Amino acid sequence: MRLEPDASPELRVAPRRHGPLRRSAVWTVEHVTAWLGGRALYRRRHLAAGRFAVREERVAIRGLSPRLAGFTIAQLSDLHAGTFLREGDLAAVVEHANGLRPDLVVLTGDFITRHWSEALLVRSDLARLRARHGVFAVLGNHDYKDRAEARIVASYAEVGVRFLCNQGVRLVDERGAFGLIGVEDIEESKQLDLAAARVGLSPDEPEIVLCHNPRGALPLARSGADLVLSGHTHGSQLDLPWMRRAGPPHPGVRLQLGATTLVVSRGLGVIGFPLRVGAPAELVVVRLEGGA
Ligand SMILES: [Fe+2]
Ligand SMILES: [Fe+2]
Repeated sequence: MRLEPDASPELRVAPRRHGPLRRSAVWTVEHVTAWLGGRALYRRRHLAAGRFAVREERVAIRGLSPRLAGFTIAQLSDLHAGTFLREGDLAAVVEHANGLRPDLVVLTGDFITRHWSEALLVRSDLARLRARHGVFAVLGNHDYKDRAEARIVASYAEVGVRFLCNQGVRLVDERGAFGLIGVEDIEESKQLDLAAARVGLSPDEPEIVLCHNPRGALPLARSGADLVLSGHTHGSQLDLPWMRRAGPPHPGVRLQLGATTLVVSRGLGVIGFPLRVGAPAELVVVRLEGGA
C-alpha cells in the first residue's frame, strides 16, 4: 500500500531534510552545548529516576480477548544516541520499564542521530530490557543514514531486539492472540507494505502497528489497524506557544482516527540541543482493554 501524499493536516509533520544553513546552525549549537556538559545535564534533568515522565495510555481494542485485558506494552522511542545520549544514560528508564513487568517492549525508531555506529552506544542498555513476549522494534528516518540500517538491525539482533521491517508476528499466549506489525519508515522507504506484513496473521484478530512517523497512521487506520504506536515528533522538544505556531503541526500525543487509536511518544532523546521544555522525555505504558 502506497502512502497517500496528502494526509490530513493534523497528521502533517516536519519535513526531514533541512537546508545547509540550518544544518550547520544545529551542528554548532550541538557541539557548543556538548562542550559545556550537555550530556551530563540532559541525563540529570531528563533521564534520571523521577525526571522522565511515565505516561500511561489505556486503549480499548475491538475483539481483544477479555483475558488479554491489562496486557502491558512499554514503548521507548527516539533515543537519538550520539552527542547527548550514550551508554548508561537509559539505565533508569530501562529499570523502570522492567519494573512494570511488561508483556511486550516496543522501540519505535530513531536510535541514532548521525551515524549507524551510534546505535552501539545504547545497545547494552537495551539488552537489559525484559518482557514476556520480547522486545520488538521498527526503524525511524534517522536510522537509514548512509543506508546502513541493516547494521543496526544486525547489531541489535545480537542482544534480542527483533526488528519488524514490513513484517508481522502473531503474539499468542494462554490468554489470547493478536497481530503485531512493524512498518518501514514512511519518509525513507516511501511505502507501508502492509500486504507483506500481514502474511500469516489472522484478519479476525486485533492488530497493533509500530510506525515511526505518525503520518502513517491515517492509511493504517483506513486499512483496519486497531492501534498505531509512533514517535518522531519529540512532542516538539521545545513545546512553547510561539514555537508551536511557527512550527509544523503534529498530531499530539494521542489521536482517535475512527476505531483506530494513535499513540505518539515524545521520545527519550533529543536533536540539536540537550533541552526539553513542555515535552518531557517519556516512557509510554500502553495497557490494552477490551472494546465493543
Ligand atoms: Fe526522532
Ligand atoms: Fe524521526
